Amino acid sequence: MRKVYIKGDILCSLILLVLLFLLLYAHQSMTPVWGTLHIQHGSTSLRTLLSGAPKGLETKPFPSKSPDIPPYKPEVQIKPKAQRPSKVKSQKAKSKFLQPSMTASLLPTHASFDFYDYLRKKDQRDFKLLIDQPTKCSGPEGAPYMLIAIKSVATDFDKRQVVRHTWGREGVFQKDVNVKRVFLLGVPQNQTALPLWDKLLGYESHTFHDILLWDFEDTFFNLTLKEIHFLQWINVSCPKAKFIFKGDADVYVNIDNILEMLEGQEIDKDLFVGDIIVRARPIRRRNSKYFIPEFIYGQGIYPSYAGGGGFVMSGHTALKLHLACKEVELFPIDDVFLGMCLLRIDLQPTRHEGFRTFGIVRPSAAPHLQVFDPCFYRELMVVHSLTVPQIWLMWNLLQDHNLQCHSSQDPMVFPFQWRDKMTAKNKAKEKLRNNDYGLKVFVEH
Ligand SMILES: *[C@@H]1O[C@H](CO)[C@@H](O)[C@H](O)[C@H]1NC(C)=O
Ligand SMILES: *[C@@H]1O[C@H](CO)[C@@H](O)[C@H](O)[C@H]1NC(C)=O
Ligand SMILES: *[C@@H]1O[C@H](CO)[C@@H](O)[C@H](O)[C@H]1NC(C)=O
Repeated sequence: MRKVYIKGDILCSLILLVLLFLLLYAHQSMTPVWGTLHIQHGSTSLRTLLSGAPKGLETKPFPSKSPDIPPYKPEVQIKPKAQRPSKVKSQKAKSKFLQPSMTASLLPTHASFDFYDYLRKKDQRDFKLLIDQPTKCSGPEGAPYMLIAIKSVATDFDKRQVVRHTWGREGVFQKDVNVKRVFLLGVPQNQTALPLWDKLLGYESHTFHDILLWDFEDTFFNLTLKEIHFLQWINVSCPKAKFIFKGDADVYVNIDNILEMLEGQEIDKDLFVGDIIVRARPIRRRNSKYFIPEFIYGQGIYPSYAGGGGFVMSGHTALKLHLACKEVELFPIDDVFLGMCLLRIDLQPTRHEGFRTFGIVRPSAAPHLQVFDPCFYRELMVVHSLTVPQIWLMWNLLQDHNLQCHSSQDPMVFPFQWRDKMTAKNKAKEKLRNNDYGLKVFVEH
């Protein structure tokens, strides 16, 4: 009897040991998968496509140089060893991906972000307007048909310049369409990086009359403050603007397409169109850029919101949002915050496929097939994550009157892989147009 008992015990221990090894093995083989996932996401950026950099170059695999990597101190000690290299790798890939659009502007530093401090300060939401454009919307041409508002930071002078000279130009265009532009800024966080930043903005305001500067720190998590102060400014200084485009400075915006989309829209109706993200879940991974702890937002999903590239709303909606946002507690991610305000006025934002938050799906993974085709971009309204030269290039390519698109059906004109997608897309757009796409695209209220 005694023997049998011992045998059973040993068997149990053995089974447990085998299970433990299996678990460890499963964990180790999982980690590299995570790393690759990150990299693949990063490399789908449009930047790669435009610059023609082959995928391999973009996310160069980490060479076996582990001695050079600075010692990595994991916060949680129980993480298995095998995770270290892949973690470093994915972070490196990520920061490379973000380089042109984010690093120069506002790179969130999550590891050190103090959410408790955020909670303590979040009732402080009235900051002084340091540089104003009080007559922006009351000039001789009257209130703008379209007001372009672009989030910017002081150091991004080159981005403001390229926008001023390309898609963000002011003026009265065909059919008496009056377009105005403002840049939205806060006080730079690191003023030693650009001494005289205040002089720069002063001169820019004097020369271009398009700077709005508020007295809060220009950080990633203060973009929500930018949102509410902009809406406040609309209420005070530009309440008669018919439509408002609000977006980032690293986008190319096809204003013509947006104006075409707005044709026939009644101006006293609600309208909110963009790359709408529905049922997104808050990210609880600490190392994510969008990490939100549960004590900041406890619910499982976010309300529908427009992705960061840009969106269009009617002036009517902006004034309603201005009031609604006053009732909503500050939330660190500005896009989601605006989604909360939309929910409050019970307005379902409209998704339009011309708005792309994260570049474009590539036609092929093979580098030699990634040919830049301006016709493809001509159909879009907002393209995200572009560098200054890319914005300028895009503008010139699409302004080029020699550019012939689907009227010329020479099969040799387009790269092999793209043609099918292209024509399918054009057909889809043609269909929408024939449908008089107001009905399909916009909410009726
Ligand atoms: C501020 O910018 C300067 C110059 O670019 C840099 O040397 C310094 O480390 C920055 N300081 C902080 C706190 O980021
Ligand atoms: C936002 O700006 C205020 C005022 O400058 C500052 O006190 C606060 O720390 C900033 N918050 C974030 C999250 O950067
Ligand atoms: C918005 O503007 C209207 C009209 O000027 C004014 O009556 C109202 O008080 C303003 N609302 C806020 C919250 O400032």
